[in-house]
Amino acid sequence: MGKNSLSRRDFMRLGAGAAALGAAAKVTILEPRTLWASLGPVPPSDTVRFGIIGTGIEGCSLLSATLPVPGIECVAAADLYDSRHIAAKEALQGKDIETTRDYRRILDRKDIDAVLVATPDHWHRKAVTDVVESGKDVYCEKPMSHSVEDGLAMIEVIQKNKRMCTVGSQRVSSILYAKAKEIWDSGKLGMVDTIMAAWDRNTDSGAWVYPIPPDASEQTIDWKTWLDGAPSRPYDPVRFFRWRCYKDYGAGLAGDLFVHLISGIHAVTGTNMPPQRALSSGGIYHYKDGREFPDLLWTMFDYPHYQMVLRCNHNNSEVGEFFGFYGKSGTMTIQGSTLTYKPQAPYEQPEDYSVFGWPAKLRDQYYEEWRKNHPRPEAGKFKVGEDEEVYTPPPGYSDMTDHLNNFFNSVRTRRPVTENEVFGHNAALGCHMSNAAYFSRQPAVWDAAANKITT
Ligand SMILES: NC(=O)c1ccc[n+]([C@@H]2O[C@H](COP(=O)([O-])OP(=O)(O)OC[C@H]3O[C@@H](n4cnc5c(N)ncnc54)[C@H](O)[C@@H]3O)[C@@H](O)[C@H]2O)c1
Repeated sequence: MGKNSLSRRDFMRLGAGAAALGAAAKVTILEPRTLWASLGPVPPSDTVRFGIIGTGIEGCSLLSATLPVPGIECVAAADLYDSRHIAAKEALQGKDIETTRDYRRILDRKDIDAVLVATPDHWHRKAVTDVVESGKDVYCEKPMSHSVEDGLAMIEVIQKNKRMCTVGSQRVSSILYAKAKEIWDSGKLGMVDTIMAAWDRNTDSGAWVYPIPPDASEQTIDWKTWLDGAPSRPYDPVRFFRWRCYKDYGAGLAGDLFVHLISGIHAVTGTNMPPQRALSSGGIYHYKDGREFPDLLWTMFDYPHYQMVLRCNHNNSEVGEFFGFYGKSGTMTIQGSTLTYKPQAPYEQPEDYSVFGWPAKLRDQYYEEWRKNHPRPEAGKFKVGEDEEVYTPPPGYSDMTDHLNNFFNSVRTRRPVTENEVFGHNAALGCHMSNAAYFSRQPAVWDAAANKITT
């Protein structure tokens, strides 16, 4: 069987969207190209050694995702919660790395080239600053910044120290989004004025109500350091583990999920600027647990050539993760891991609405004339929906592994990264504008001259 043909089992594994399209749609399994196809073995002298700061949920996912990447080695991990030292080693399949509460020990090591930062958002600026000032390259989790000022300061320090920075919105390295970009760039969507995207969930975990591990305490967690510049308060495991709910440490739905949608849309459309204006609406409808961010958030964003409408909610998951690019000549959607392109009006049709207000004689004349100018295709030359295209990555594909691989490749080769600090900052600005509009109940406008959001 050819590499791109589908066995029945593969087909069953594809998203429901692809399967539902039936026989008319052409389904293509995309070739993984960055990691598996283009990178040969790396000589031991080119091995990139790295450390990680923050080995919670995302830190451990990153460590697991690095396992298939050739030519790299994790040698140290820092975390303020002791059990996460064990979790980090387990994510590396038992590798015995140095673990510490104090990340300076990683930055002082001369054998480390790069550091992954997977702390909560309020720590990104300080950790990234310290990493690049120690002469190492940095992979910073999304959203890059916790505030506009943080993002501007981070760009400055990264560029001043001439370090590589990749921001961790992995869709930017995904083969699925690369295909979407190819379709966008081909122009076959025609003029696109509307892009809609959503990320909906309906579980307590999806709403960040994470369980608190039984060994968590002031003895096992360095709470004071974790607070950093945030207002001082007594040890609070709810804030430590569910930090996404609170403004002092996170940015709610916008920072957690809009940022992925914005980064994906920016990557596909070749946009590298903040939105010009944001209008938000939403509320806390179900999770009235003391959180500061809404559990339903809508934001409409203005860009020079299109409108972007985003929604995230915690209370119904029917839509899941969805992108729609609506063009005059075609529609492109990404639902989970299935990309579909559909022509908007593939065949010319006679007017069939307003002519019903015409007398029958004029209407008949119109149809006769139309048919004369549009002869029917000869027998056997009809096209039946074969212009619809469906793409999906192969089973087991990981865009996070590709994103990390791209970062480590840039560290090794000094070639530009796929998602640098300016791209990451612009995507994060969209999140900050969304929240500014939600909390002020006013439109939030990006003032490019003053580098700030005004409401
Ligand atoms: N790219 C993605 O798909 C994705 C997914 C989830 C989370 N994230 C991002 O990853 C980051 C971490 O999220 P998480 O869910 O893993 O949070 P988490 O709370 O599970 O883990 C964060 C860890 O960072 C540690 N930490 C904080 N400050 C530290 C410091 N100064 N030194 C050492 N360790 C420190 C904490 O002790 C904690 O264990 C966030 O920015 C989040 O937005 C990205």
